[in-house]
Amino acid sequence: MAVPPEIEQRAIELREQLAEHNHRYFVLDDPTVSDADYDALLRELRGIEDQFPELIVPDSPTQRPGGAASALFAPVEHRQPMMSLDNAFDLDELLAWGKRLERTLGDPASNPLDYVCELKIDGLAMSLTYERGRFVRAATRGDGRVGEDVTANVATIAAVPKRLKGPDVPDLVEVRGEVYMPLGAFAQLNERQLAAEARPFANPRNAAAGSLRQKDASVTAGRELALWSYQLGAVEGGPSFRSHQETLDWLRAIGLPVNPEIRTLGSLEEVHRFCGHWQQHRHDLDYEIDGVVVKVDDLGQRRELGSTSKAPRWAIAYKFPPEERTTRLNAIMVSIGRTGRATPFAQLEPVFVSGVTVVQATLHNEDQVRAKDVRPGDTVIVRRAGDVIPEVVGPVLAERPKGLRRWKFPKDCPVCGQPLSRVEGESDTFCVNRDCPARTVGWISHFASRGAMDIEGLGERTVYQFAELGLLADPGDIYGLDWDRVRDLAGFGELSIANLQQAIEASKSRPLGDLITGLNIRHAGGTVARLLARSFGSLDRIMDASAEEIAAVEGIGRVIAESIHEWFEDERHREVIDKLRSAGVDFGRVEEPTAPQVLVGKSIVVTGTLEGWSREAAEEAIVERGGKAPGSVSKKTTAVVVGEAPGNAKVTKAQELGVPILDEAGFAHLLETGELPSA
Ligand code: IVH
Repeated sequence: MAVPPEIEQRAIELREQLAEHNHRYFVLDDPTVSDADYDALLRELRGIEDQFPELIVPDSPTQRPGGAASALFAPVEHRQPMMSLDNAFDLDELLAWGKRLERTLGDPASNPLDYVCELKIDGLAMSLTYERGRFVRAATRGDGRVGEDVTANVATIAAVPKRLKGPDVPDLVEVRGEVYMPLGAFAQLNERQLAAEARPFANPRNAAAGSLRQKDASVTAGRELALWSYQLGAVEGGPSFRSHQETLDWLRAIGLPVNPEIRTLGSLEEVHRFCGHWQQHRHDLDYEIDGVVVKVDDLGQRRELGSTSKAPRWAIAYKFPPEERTTRLNAIMVSIGRTGRATPFAQLEPVFVSGVTVVQATLHNEDQVRAKDVRPGDTVIVRRAGDVIPEVVGPVLAERPKGLRRWKFPKDCPVCGQPLSRVEGESDTFCVNRDCPARTVGWISHFASRGAMDIEGLGERTVYQFAELGLLADPGDIYGLDWDRVRDLAGFGELSIANLQQAIEASKSRPLGDLITGLNIRHAGGTVARLLARSFGSLDRIMDASAEEIAAVEGIGRVIAESIHEWFEDERHREVIDKLRSAGVDFGRVEEPTAPQVLVGKSIVVTGTLEGWSREAAEEAIVERGGKAPGSVSKKTTAVVVGEAPGNAKVTKAQELGVPILDEAGFAHLLETGELPSA
């Protein structure tokens, strides 16, 4: 069935919105949508792409990149597997776990149970190996069996002893713990990132992961990571233990950091109270926790209980629910993006939710504000689940002051004062004035951003400053900046000017795909831009192409092709191109894909959380190697990669269709060789 044009249009719209949200989130640190809303958009796009796979383009946000690749670090086989934990979300689930324990261990009257309650640190699981008391290796969890060697990086963590203390040191011991970034260090790191106009980290866990994934350990050293140890893996020699509490005391005695908030309790009711206490007080700590880990204390009982293939039966993770807070909605404002899109957002009385002070949250568009019916002056519920992007759930109607008016979308652009226009049949409203300063600044800083011409030192603030002085009106002006006037500005010394000049000079030889990305052509984000670059080989050839010729490129549909063609027809855009040409910007540097194309023709679905990869990074690794990473399983799927807490429907469907299911190690093998691992 041919793709109906309105569906193609919607896919494009979703892709653009998602790309913009990614940019706001990762580059500007100024997200305007909640996680849940972002996911809803992504799901809608996945749904469309599942139905019409021909609409999938390699740089669709469903196929997008994320963090760093994993093949950088050598594999390490754990002597004892690093397991995950089953979860409980309330007292009933805790009690159900207790019943399962009793079924194996018998009557608690004759065989009483003690529970060790530990904070569940939201960091990265780590295995430290000590041989004859010397720190010899640190490895990430990986797929639980094989992790990555991060010894050099972990060696820079002050809390990790390089030599164990005391007479009782075993020949070999694997210590399990969590590497984390304290909140103070996280805040400082992000301040430094922002000052350097570098991408801030979304949360302390990502910051810790990013810091550990450095090839250069001196970068890790500057990141102030810390560790809590909480479990033993393989042990050869040394003392023997009867209880978990004893092992923790011993870990502390030999010099490893053990969290001070650990309690041993005699009933699950007390355990539940402990969980409730920390749910309330989690922000009294200088690190993030996402629950409580409850472990059977007696090691004999543990042996009796054993493990399933994934998790021990003797422990459970009590997970905290997403946090909600109420606060006052002071105002609803509208921001104008680089495409002119007008996005309403909530200006909130600052409120602390899940470790972050929230001052604003996106409201997406006019219809969303109407549906939620939040009004300036309302008390609203703000939620932040797990990750970073906060959302306004809705108003607390009982607290609505009398006479509050419904909010109305402004008629005019708040930046340039020209009328706003809502496209018929779409939910978005736009400022259509091409000279709107918000659009100009947005376009120029997008042109200079990392995904485009990568001009370090030309971030949004600087662009704004230059544009206000009339030094920049479009990206072409970057190459003809009046440096004498820049020199007169406060904050521009000779060194920063020289650096900026150098970055501008270097940008002239960026790959064509990045140049096209920077042109800010509607519907032509990074993926489409790279497709164009590869197919046409030079900007001039794209400019000369008809819409039909552009639409003939695989992965580019009619709507996109027309938008590209129209862009180049525009007189004002041609002027920008002329400025770039006279400045000597390379119009024909085409980059070949760098990763070996081992997955061409293969379609790999990723579900659940992988330890070593963000979902986006995993999907990007697939796309980079020429494969597809769709959001659902079909008989065309080559394999399904399953992490922790996978989507059940996907796993069941894969089983029904006989699609191979891979764990993280299998995935690594597939990426490297393009082959499915032999069973
Ligand atoms: S014990 C076999 N204790 O939670 C049991 N894990 O969801 C191994 N975690 O992969 C884990 N704090 O990264 C344990 N006090 C704690 C923990 C903890 C955080 C993490 C760990 C594990 C994950 C399981």
